[in-house]
Amino acid sequence: MLKALRGMKDTLPPQNEKYLYFLEKCTEIVERYGFEFIETPILEDTKLFKRSVGESSDIVGKEMYQFIDKGENDVCLRPEGTAGVVRSFVENKFDRIGGINRFYYHGPMFRYERPQKGRFRQFHQFGVESFGVSNYLEDVNIILMAKTILDIFKINYTLHLNSLGCTTCMPPFRKKLTSYLNGVDGLCEDCLRRKDKNPIRVFDCKNSNCQELLKPAPRLNDNFCKVCEDDFEQILKLLKTMDIDYEVDPNLVRGLDYYSKTAFEFVSSDLGAQNAVAGGGRYDRLVELLDGRETPAIGFAIGVERVLEMIEVPKRERNGYYFGALCDEAIGSVFKEAQKQREKDRVIMAYSVKSLKNHLKAADKMGASYCAIIGEDELKNSVLWIKDLINKNEETREIE
Ligand code: HAM
Repeated sequence: MLKALRGMKDTLPPQNEKYLYFLEKCTEIVERYGFEFIETPILEDTKLFKRSVGESSDIVGKEMYQFIDKGENDVCLRPEGTAGVVRSFVENKFDRIGGINRFYYHGPMFRYERPQKGRFRQFHQFGVESFGVSNYLEDVNIILMAKTILDIFKINYTLHLNSLGCTTCMPPFRKKLTSYLNGVDGLCEDCLRRKDKNPIRVFDCKNSNCQELLKPAPRLNDNFCKVCEDDFEQILKLLKTMDIDYEVDPNLVRGLDYYSKTAFEFVSSDLGAQNAVAGGGRYDRLVELLDGRETPAIGFAIGVERVLEMIEVPKRERNGYYFGALCDEAIGSVFKEAQKQREKDRVIMAYSVKSLKNHLKAADKMGASYCAIIGEDELKNSVLWIKDLINKNEETREIE
């Protein structure tokens, strides 16, 4: 028997009602903040991810679904959504038109990771990307949006927050950190790789020996330029004003290379080892890095499977019609009336003739609000018999 690939799974009814409900609520919320839907291809040029997510990241280093297609193009299944949205933003010249552009998207992402609870090779993200605003108020707005979504679903989380500095404070800090790391013996292989490509990623290392070696390392938070320091302070102040709890986490560097300034993660203790429900941050350099005009930008993505694992959705209420025939002669009329009703409602029609009792049972099982029946008597009188399955009333309606 053929099976789905390791780390990939089907989304089946009735559980997928949760999935659809979650997307519906997310959409409702982000549209209130003025975000518009965007869809980009799942398959992109591998160079896109190398240049954005970055060569030092685990994603590009180890986890890409990368292959050469029949036209000899080096392509990759998207491991995340931001890079594709930025590529599209530049390709469609939004950067030249200028102004503010806010997008949201959802869909499957692919990372060749070791599957475990909450970690899949194909998973879904709901994400937002906002372009054209450098004001720190947008940072708080974006965090607030993610928080609003998680709150609607009553998810327990802690908001972890950090700033990763900008092009003024980052390069001298990088130098300082690299010279510290060059003097340290015993870093793991990943850290040695990161040291040369993007040294701040060493703070992301889970290896306890590396954590110990990094304790005396210089910290970005002590090396911010004035603008980064002020912006970060303003953000923390506004979060307090908005009664949003947070923890400043100097080790939070995110697993993707494109971030600058604000970086955040919502982490839940109700999940296992894979406890990040959502993550995001500012990436003011990325549009330029992908050949566009310098444009400030910020966004986040929520891991849909991780949220679904933790939530219950209200049971769907009864709705729609069930149509059935009591004799063969009635089938044509039932088919026609069902089609008419479908202009307004969800309608399921039984194709086989059954007794009234069995039709009522089937209508109940499919969660219909009404059971509509035509038998010999109804045909004679040109009526449709309808039973309201909620308040049990019966009525007849004239038909052609
Ligand atoms: P990320 O932190 O790599 O950020 O992923 C966002 C979320 O996707 C994670 O917090 C997690 O919930 C979920 N996720 C990641 N990997 C897996 C996996 N293997 N299985 C299940 N869920 C997973 C990004 O992808 C950025 N593009 C977010 C962003 C948008 N930053 C700015 N704009």
